[in-house]
Amino acid sequence: MFLKIKQLFYLAYWFIGARFFGRRRPLQSVIFISDRCNLSCKHCSVYNHKNPLNKTFEQIREELQYCYDQGSRFVDFEGGEPFIWEDNGRDINDLCDLAKSMGFFSCTITTNAQKPFPNSRADSIWVSLDGYGEFHEAVRGKGTFARLEQNIATCGHKALSVNMAINTLNHTAVAQTIEYVKSNPHIQSISLNFHTPFAGTEYLALDERRRHEIIDLIIDYKRKGYPIMNSIPGLKKMKDLHFKPQCWVTNFIFTDGSRKAQCIGYEQGVCDQCGFCMAGEMSGVFNLHPGTIIAGLKLRMK
Ligand SMILES: C[S@@+](CC[C@H](N)C(=O)[O-])C[C@H]1O[C@@H](n2cnc3c(N)ncnc32)[C@H](O)[C@@H]1O
Ligand code: SF4
Repeated sequence: MFLKIKQLFYLAYWFIGARFFGRRRPLQSVIFISDRCNLSCKHCSVYNHKNPLNKTFEQIREELQYCYDQGSRFVDFEGGEPFIWEDNGRDINDLCDLAKSMGFFSCTITTNAQKPFPNSRADSIWVSLDGYGEFHEAVRGKGTFARLEQNIATCGHKALSVNMAINTLNHTAVAQTIEYVKSNPHIQSISLNFHTPFAGTEYLALDERRRHEIIDLIIDYKRKGYPIMNSIPGLKKMKDLHFKPQCWVTNFIFTDGSRKAQCIGYEQGVCDQCGFCMAGEMSGVFNLHPGTIIAGLKLRMK
């Protein structure tokens, strides 16, 4: 209880500083701990099978400290595949413990769920689910859906949600995937995102008309009470992307150790085709849309 109050105070302090005094300090950090991966997804430009980089525990400690000193209090460990990361007998659970001991309010892991992950000490887990059954496998490869289902059913984690990146291979499966999430007792909610056309993956991006249709479909489901993480104002913003981005809310430390105040999309010049719905959510929060503020608090205050 005390911790929740402390977090709420910090969030209020951070928000007032950012919204009314123009203070630009990150609230959350994404740390890429390795680009080693056990899959080769069609939409991904991160994995590196030839010469994978694996950060050491000490390097990640320094990076966490840097993020904390910047003001960040939420960390997401990303890869590559975080559940296969290790360094001298330490694994991802040791990184979660480290982050919490340093004062981070919560630690999240984004995973492909191909390896069992019982007893995870992350506060929340995001499993990447790119459609139901064959649609997921069209992006992620044969056998990946069954393994994901099995591993989320046996992980025992109480705060597990899924994240879908909608692209030209799986766009017809959005409704089915939302229904599946509702029916699966091991999944809390779904966050829906669109493919961002990083170099080499441009062919997977949807055209504007189709993107609009899908956003309308998601909004319908949301209004019917389905467990969708995105807010309605945030989704509407993602239709035409005509808003002032507030992406500095998250800072990034990439696998090569480079530290950036913004996502890689900014550097690659693809912000005008961004699919990461967090961009719309953050803009909604800064325009004081109650729906996006509630969605943000739900995400942060477990
Ligand atoms: C790079 S993966 C790393 C974590 C883990 N290996 C996984 O697949 O969940 C992180 C997330 O980024 C998403 N992603 C990768 N490339 C993307 C793209 N071009 N556009 C949108 N989302 C993308 C993935 O679907 C996944 O949910
Ligand atoms: S599992 Fe994640 S990191 Fe690995 S290839 Fe797929 S999206 Fe990329």
